[in-house]
Amino acid sequence: KEIACEKDMKGLRVLVTAGPTMEAMDPVRYITNHSTGKMGYAIARNCMLRGADVTLVTGQTSIEKPRFVNIVPIESAREMFEEVTGRAPEQDIIIKAAAVADYRPQTVSDEKVKKSGDHMTLELEKTDDILKYLGEHKKEGQFLCGFSMETEHMLENSRAKLKKKNLDMIVANNLKVPGAGFGVDTNVVTIITAQGVTELPLQSKDAVAGHIADAIAGK
Ligand code: CTP
Repeated sequence: KEIACEKDMKGLRVLVTAGPTMEAMDPVRYITNHSTGKMGYAIARNCMLRGADVTLVTGQTSIEKPRFVNIVPIESAREMFEEVTGRAPEQDIIIKAAAVADYRPQTVSDEKVKKSGDHMTLELEKTDDILKYLGEHKKEGQFLCGFSMETEHMLENSRAKLKKKNLDMIVANNLKVPGAGFGVDTNVVTIITAQGVTELPLQSKDAVAGHIADAIAGK
């Protein structure tokens, strides 16, 4: 269902990332994570309803794509890096809700890896930190919002990321709080800016998306 709302993002270009990345080790197998894309999709839809011109760079998900949004599908962290950084200079607002792999298999075998022995070791290498790159190349007036998933020391770690990555806002959640994080339709988040910290109560991801967009639009 579509709902009517104030067009307070009219004319703004907003790029949202969502979902997991997939890092191949051979033609059969890959490393991924539990992200469903629900939070990022809800944000993309909310910004679209407010009148923004929205691009959604998304990993593979099984949820319905938001309408009236420019969808850019990707698989790996490297593909997400290319698609996001290539579009970043023309964006007014960038919101990075995707769960990007921090490491990927160092070599990707062309052939299926055959089993041998009782143990195997997979060498991993670091992926590029997209959010950090965006912070380093942020243009005048651009608004950059990151996400932070933590299982401990949520506020301290998230504040450190806000500074280190040159963000305007970070949306933090503690995975251990019931009703927060992966898979569920609800979330419990804390919005952190240089000005202050706002803890939001448990609510639907759609409602959380509205609060995040409100905070970005300065409401
Ligand atoms: N992120 C990114 N590129 C990566 C890894 C993460 O852009 N290669 C972004 C995510 O989209 C998210 C934010 O960084 O917006 C925070 O991700 P998170 O994994 O919580 O934090 P990290 O900075 O990777 O730190 P750590 O893994 O130590 O918690």
